[in-house]
Amino acid sequence: MDRQEILKRIDQLKKQRNAIILAHNYQIEEVQDVADYVGDSFELSRIAAESKADLIVFCGVHFMAESAAILSPAKTVLLPDLNAGCPLADMIDADQLRKFKKQHPGAAVAAYINSTAAVKAESDICVTSANAVKVVNSLSEDIVLFVPDGNLAHFVAERTAKTIIPWAGYCNTHHRVTVEDVEQARKLHPEAVLVVHPECRPAVVALADAALGTGGMIRYAKETVVKDIIIGTEMGMLHRLKKESPDKNFILLTPKLICPNMKYTNLEKVLASLERKEYVITVESGIRNRAVPALERMLAVK
Ligand code: 13P
Repeated sequence: MDRQEILKRIDQLKKQRNAIILAHNYQIEEVQDVADYVGDSFELSRIAAESKADLIVFCGVHFMAESAAILSPAKTVLLPDLNAGCPLADMIDADQLRKFKKQHPGAAVAAYINSTAAVKAESDICVTSANAVKVVNSLSEDIVLFVPDGNLAHFVAERTAKTIIPWAGYCNTHHRVTVEDVEQARKLHPEAVLVVHPECRPAVVALADAALGTGGMIRYAKETVVKDIIIGTEMGMLHRLKKESPDKNFILLTPKLICPNMKYTNLEKVLASLERKEYVITVESGIRNRAVPALERMLAVK
């Protein structure tokens, strides 16, 4: 089947099945282009919760589809490729979190949305990189266990009066970026501003002009008067940035910024997913019932 036929078939199936396609900002270009919505983790979880669709094809990684399934039990949530996981989300499990909580009685638990449903079920509230500081500040407790991303925890700790106790997880892709990478990019592009994701190491974040989630980067690029922007996050991001800010030049901070999990999904798999209704992501009801409040509390923070 050629590309045009695939696109036509996807469109037909979407109508037949009352489906929407959501794609994270890191997805490959053809997947972003076929999606109904492209966004960051927070935007996509909100759309998934509010959508009237019966079927959601989630082009992202497993925890994102799982969050949509938690928020929308009446909808069928599909992940086109089950290999699309998130090593960061797997860096803490529910048992480890229970032990962590026992060590710090009375502390609140903030779980990065990049976590499993079972971890969310043990948490008080979820955060994304777009809202982490605001959400942590909304808690009544002064001590907050922050899981699983230690770099994001550090980022929050520097911007809140609360005491943050981090779990030492990290995103393989962002953690790979070094201070040397920043120095080299700055040398090659002295006029450019540098925007990084808060999942980068604190020493890298400290050298950046801004540290933002992927949705924040889109807005920053539109607003800045600076022409050249070095981007310190997963390379898929450049597609949407170029599309929405064609007057700017985007430079990837380092070619190391590639997440293999975000690259599993392609147009053929989106079509197969819609045709065969694969792969359905479900969350066992006991876990779901305990995970819902953490996600809903996050969505309610103004
Ligand atoms: P955003 O919420 O900024 O889109 O980030 C998602 C993510 O997984 C970063 O690695």
